[in-house]
Amino acid sequence: MTQRGIPRPRVRIARLRHAPVVARVIRASFAEYLDAAKKPVSARLSARQVRLHIRTGKKRYALAYLASRPVGAVGYRVKGRRLTFGPVGVLPRRRKAGVGAALIAWVERRARVRRCREIRAEVLWGLAHLKEYYRKRGYRIVEKNERTYAVKRLAPQG
Ligand SMILES: CC(C)(COP(=O)(O)OP(=O)(O)OC[C@H]1O[C@@H](n2cnc3c(N)ncnc32)[C@H](O)[C@@H]1OP(=O)(O)O)[C@@H](O)C(=O)NCCC(=O)NCCS
Repeated sequence: MTQRGIPRPRVRIARLRHAPVVARVIRASFAEYLDAAKKPVSARLSARQVRLHIRTGKKRYALAYLASRPVGAVGYRVKGRRLTFGPVGVLPRRRKAGVGAALIAWVERRARVRRCREIRAEVLWGLAHLKEYYRKRGYRIVEKNERTYAVKRLAPQG
């Protein structure tokens, strides 16, 4: 709990048994984009896909909990010295409570543990408010091949 009595988000690695919860949380977080002409793949993420990602090592996932309820999720993978994360999503009614920040801080800690030198996320459709969200958290915005990325360099560990 925080001093104001608001539960603090807790982030935990998702296991295979959590695949349905991860998929549900990500789908609900991206549902607001379903009306767009091009629907993001995350809005359709299935438990089967999450299970396959975890099983094959293509991606791992973490869940954020508020008072023991899953309210946010993030997927990530480490390749060489780079950690790439996404999708990251928080249930609409649980936003602006630091859950997104907790998920990003968690993947950043994973990156440091794995001695990564860079962390990056693709910014959905280069949306201005998302670019701003990452900028505020110390990310640089990079446009490459008509895609937008948020990139942070990590200092080498001593
Ligand atoms: C982007 C997203 C993950 C952010 O999640 P979130 O949990 O709302 O993020 P946070 O709570 O950490 O931060 C959101 C804002 O709330 C503010 N905030 C954090 N804790 C707060 C609190 N206790 N009280 C009031 N405001 C608070 C933050 O300062 C932040 O504002 P800022 O960006 O102007 O600084 C969420 O909006 C989302 O799921 N969007 C849909 C999916 C998506 O677009 N994913 C990203 C694709 S690249």
